[in-house]
Formats: sequence, structure tokens, C-alpha cells
Amino acid sequence: MMVPRDVGWETTDWEQIGVDTGRPSIARVYDAILGGKDNFAVDRAVAAKRLELIPDGGQGARLSRAFLARGVRHLARLGVTQFLDIGSGLPSAQNTHQVAQSVEPEARVVYVDHDPMVLAHARALLADDQQRTRAVLGDLRQPDAILDDPVVRDFLDWSRPVGLLLLGIVHHLADAEDPSGCVRALVDRLPPGSYLLLSHFSDASAEARALEQALQQMLGSGRMRSELEIRAFFDGTRLQQPGVVPVVAWQPDDGPAEPPTPSTLLVFGGLGRIGQPLT
Ligand SMILES: C[S@@+](CC[C@H](N)C(=O)[O-])C[C@H]1O[C@@H](n2cnc3c(N)ncnc32)[C@H](O)[C@@H]1O
Repeated sequence: MMVPRDVGWETTDWEQIGVDTGRPSIARVYDAILGGKDNFAVDRAVAAKRLELIPDGGQGARLSRAFLARGVRHLARLGVTQFLDIGSGLPSAQNTHQVAQSVEPEARVVYVDHDPMVLAHARALLADDQQRTRAVLGDLRQPDAILDDPVVRDFLDWSRPVGLLLLGIVHHLADAEDPSGCVRALVDRLPPGSYLLLSHFSDASAEARALEQALQQMLGSGRMRSELEIRAFFDGTRLQQPGVVPVVAWQPDDGPAEPPTPSTLLVFGGLGRIGQPLT
């Protein structure tokens, strides 16, 4: 029998590992939008607000996951065999290690997130892939601590290129938390030939700006930024074609292009390469 996550005994279990079931978490809100089961009533309230303001049945979140899959597959085909996925989120369809290993079976992934529930689920999911995947707690606001984590340091080979994934996470840092400085601190320590794949909420629609207000009120984070501001997160890298664009327009799979709607304009993304002459 499937037991809802907010039933008493399960809630107690979660609280023992540091999960605050009375406050929404972005990982669980995202899970709720994607139709997952790892969320509580407080999370579903934020997800409902998101779906009320941009009534797309969760399409925006699915498009973001599809961008992750296209980006990781692209990097694996370029020969990137190790990935550092910060803000990895709750396991969903097509997780990073599954996508990467579908191209390169020996690909290694370290998942990093600051949400203890994400870590618990990631470790359970990865129990059958002890050889090539790890999950650790870490906070993007402390980038050096992430890179100095013994698992991150020892499990990845820092003499070879790394695919750094910052997908749907940087917009949860407020301006005062210096998101540019945090991203740059990571980029500057990546080996030559590494890549930064990043996606971010955009302020391109009035609906997105209304969503920003709601997220700030209900969740305490969620900052829509302009295309120029998002592009600046790629400083120190060589931005690859087609630049910073709505994720649906980044290397679209065959098929009709998605029309510009508040849903398809919600998240922009791009890919930067480290270690070539900067343009
Ligand atoms: C919207 S989810 C994105 C999940 C996945 N990357 C994707 O694109 O499908 C954002 C994730 O970032 C994590 N996160 C938010 N702020 C963080 C921080 N400062 N440090 C580490 N993780 C953070 C959340 O816990 C959540 O799991």
C-alpha cells in the first residue's frame, strides 16, 4: 500500500534525519510539480501556486529535466566521463548517472545537495551503483567546501575534464549571497576541457515575475533573472552555441519547436567550456 509522505510515523522518520516536514523545500516542491510522491502538504501548496500562476500541468519542470538529459548526453558524447551535479534534487526519471552511463557505461557522478531528504533518496537509489556514483551533502554557498569534500576530491579525477551541472539551483541564491562569486569559485577550480551546464529561472514573462513574488513569500527563494544576468554566470567559460536560450531551444530534439509561452520561457540554460581562449 502506498503511504502518503505526511502520515505521522513517516514524518517522524524524516525528522530524525533532519528533514523539516513543516516547511516547504524546493526539492520536494519540484518533486510535487513533476508528479512524484516524495513531498508533504506544505510542498504541494507551493506546487499548486506555481501551477495556478503558470497552468502548464508541470510541463516547465519536465522541459527542465529534458534539458538535463540532452546536456548530459551531449557532454558524454564529447568524451566527458565524470560529472559533479550540484543541486541534484530528488531522483526522477532520467537521473544524471543513468543518462551519462547510457552513453559511457563507466561514467562517474557525484550528486551534491543541501537537502537531507535528497541525500537519503539518492543513496537509496544508488545502492546498486556503488562503483560509479556517490551522493554528499553540500551547499552551493560554500563552493570551496564542496570541492574540498573528500568524496568529491577523491572519487573524481581532477586531472581530467569534469561536467559541472548547476541546474535549477542558482536561482535559489539571493543576490546578497553572491551567486556569481559562488559559480565562479567552482569554475575557476575545474580542470581544462571541463564544462558548465547551467539552467536558471528567467524573468522573460509577466507570469514568471508573479511567480517570483509567490516563491519568495512561500519558499523564501526563487529569483528570476534576465538573459544578460544568466549569461554572466558563464564568465570564465567559453559559451557554446546556441548561447543562453530557453531550454526548449537548446539543441532541441527532432520535432516541432515549442512555441514561446510562460511555461517554455520559464527556464533558460546554456553550456560553457573551460580552458579555451575566451571570446
Ligand atoms: C529545482 S531542484 C533542481 C533539481 C535538478 N537539478 C533538475 O534540474 O532537475 C533544485 C535543487 O537544488 C537544491 N538546492 C537549493 N539551494 C541549494 C544550495 N544552496 N546548495 C545545495 N543545494 C541546493 C534543492 O535542495 C533542490 O534539490
